[in-house]
Amino acid sequence: MGPTWLKDAIFYEIYPQSFQDSNDDGIGDIPGIIDRLDYVAGLGCNALWINPCFDSPFMDAGYDVRDYKLVAPRYGTNEDLVRLFREAHARGMHVLLDLVPGHTSDQHPWFKASAQADPNEYSARYIWTDEALWGMEGRPYIAGMTERSGAYMLNFFASQPALNYGWLDPYKHWMSATDSPEARATIEAIKDVMRFWLDLGCDGYRVDMADSLVKGDDERKSATCAIWRDIRAMMDRDYPDAALVSEWSNPDQALCQAGFHMDFYLDHQRNGYNTLLRDYETKGGDHSYFRCDAGGSIRRFLDDYLPKYERSRGRGYISLITCNHDTPRPARTLSPAELKLAYAFILTMPGVPFIYYGDEIGMRYLDLRTKEGGYQRTGSRSPMQWSHGENAGFSTAPADQLYLPVDASPDAPSVEGQWADPDSLLSEVRRLVALRHAYEDLQADAPFAVVNDDEAAAPFSYRRGALLLALNPSSRERRLDDALLQGRRVVYRIGGAALHEGSLAMPGQSFVVLA
Ligand code: NOJ
Repeated sequence: MGPTWLKDAIFYEIYPQSFQDSNDDGIGDIPGIIDRLDYVAGLGCNALWINPCFDSPFMDAGYDVRDYKLVAPRYGTNEDLVRLFREAHARGMHVLLDLVPGHTSDQHPWFKASAQADPNEYSARYIWTDEALWGMEGRPYIAGMTERSGAYMLNFFASQPALNYGWLDPYKHWMSATDSPEARATIEAIKDVMRFWLDLGCDGYRVDMADSLVKGDDERKSATCAIWRDIRAMMDRDYPDAALVSEWSNPDQALCQAGFHMDFYLDHQRNGYNTLLRDYETKGGDHSYFRCDAGGSIRRFLDDYLPKYERSRGRGYISLITCNHDTPRPARTLSPAELKLAYAFILTMPGVPFIYYGDEIGMRYLDLRTKEGGYQRTGSRSPMQWSHGENAGFSTAPADQLYLPVDASPDAPSVEGQWADPDSLLSEVRRLVALRHAYEDLQADAPFAVVNDDEAAAPFSYRRGALLLALNPSSRERRLDDALLQGRRVVYRIGGAALHEGSLAMPGQSFVVLA
């Protein structure tokens, strides 16, 4: 299954632009992250995922890498990043960087060489047709920008040309096979990038668009999975303690076939995860499970999740997230009371959970103008709110020079305002994180089983190992009478759940853990 530290890992995702500015230039940086490590440790998170912090023209917030081996000057230096690894390790924390293997920036030297008319070492590093006036059968491609006569394929935005890992079944002479020297060279180049930071002390990678490598792949993504198995063999041999988490959202492929240690369960419309927090884009209003009395049902989550969980059990971990830098913040629609229950669920499920910076205080989704290719995602990327002071404690630069504006509302949540308040969302998150660390049965491996999912009859209840948990996000009281309740005691509660003579009363908006 991979590194043992994952069993009790709780990740904290940091968007480096927006976490802490240490040099008053209005943008977050790596020394700023180091300054805030004690906060993350105090929250109880013992692992970090840092969004891309490498040199980039920032057409997609750094997912357009220009130099994989250089920290972007606006975030600091390579030495700063190595110091971050050291400081994190000193606090018992692991650090994952963000690997973008599917594409680079069109400003990357590989691409610039590849775009030359004269053949060179990098000519086949990207996917090019042989004529500029020839499309790629409905695929996104760009022509007319280079000396080279050809069109190049995109992997995401216009500034992000696709690296060449070959085609499963090449049917044009310009398509490389997956075992061609050029496709192999791309894999080796990415392995070299991985080794560079692993050798300097990083603990693994979150892998961007991990399923996007081989073009024309089959439905099972078998050729792309084969590449990851090859990379995983390198990890097992040379970096057995390092971890990989995929942006794939398909554990059958990512965990069982490709060999990732963890796979994100992402917010894709109407999948199980979407029904929990953000089911507001379907007709007829918001039916999110954690929205009180919105008519949601845990069954919609379980129908999607359970088969994935059962099939991938023992092969890797499904990662539930509070949010990420691409997804609307959950506080967009959920109240602090609703968020407490949602996080209680996320933090008591199997696999490895991720908290997105600021979700622990209920930071809001802001209505912001797009920044660096963020578009509607920009609203989830605003500066961390540390205090009620200047720029929410994020930076001492003039407010109009901040990377993004801070939440200006008078009641904007902050760490300072919530840290000492036992009823705050932040205090609840800290207690939940501590609870997970305290009980092995709440961690990654302990089995999950549904006890009751008929919420008309009784609260949703589930087992983790020997523990019994129940959740009632509705406003109506629910009662559970079950032989499983005999001899148990309450070890954690939100709301006034009470266990009396083998019967569990769950008032509206409550959660309980019974040992
Ligand atoms: C997924 C990343 O999370 C997103 O932010 C980025 O824009 C795309 N991949 C392209 O790299």
